[in-house]
Amino acid sequence: MTTKKEIIGNYDTTARIYDMQYREEQLLKISFTLKRVMPRAGDTVIDAGCGTGMLFEHLDHCGLLVGVDPSINMLREARKRTREGGNTELVLGDVEALPFRGGSCDVVFCISVLQLMDDPRRGLEEILRILKSRGSFAATLIRKARFAQDLDRFVRGAFVELYDSESMKDVFLIGQRID
Ligand SMILES: C[S@@+](CC[C@H](N)C(=O)[O-])C[C@H]1O[C@@H](n2cnc3c(N)ncnc32)[C@H](O)[C@@H]1O
Repeated sequence: MTTKKEIIGNYDTTARIYDMQYREEQLLKISFTLKRVMPRAGDTVIDAGCGTGMLFEHLDHCGLLVGVDPSINMLREARKRTREGGNTELVLGDVEALPFRGGSCDVVFCISVLQLMDDPRRGLEEILRILKSRGSFAATLIRKARFAQDLDRFVRGAFVELYDSESMKDVFLIGQRID
């Protein structure tokens, strides 16, 4: 089994060529996601496992956008998509222990990250913890990952819909915290 350290090491090594390899694929997922979850102007938005920050280009209107990733080299690439005085901050961190207060965020995205965890439920619990009541989230993971088709059953305290289509590489869990 690949350890977390090895996973992060792999992203550190390949950060520079990530966009070249995956941009097209990730943009399809981002487009699918944003049709279902689009933050409002002024929202506080977290991109958990932001990678090179491809999502940032679509979220200029948010109040605060925080990209979190445990790979320093992925964050270095993401930095290129931010600008001085812009709305985006970058944080070295882990979706299993997000450095935000409970109930503090309007929207959380987590695209193509949960399949890297031993137990994706831990990431989902963390996403729900930091969301405000009625806050929205979108989490995707590759269709062939363990748990993928059952992910919606594991979520507590949220209204969720699972989108699973053979035409997409990921399944999409779109939800809203309700409490
Ligand atoms: C497949 S990439 C997806 C990046 C980005 N979300 C996108 O759509 O292009 C997976 C990312 O998750 C990050 N990652 C790996 N383990 C993580 C963890 N435990 N918490 C947060 N991010 C993690 C990796 O460093 C990498 O940047």
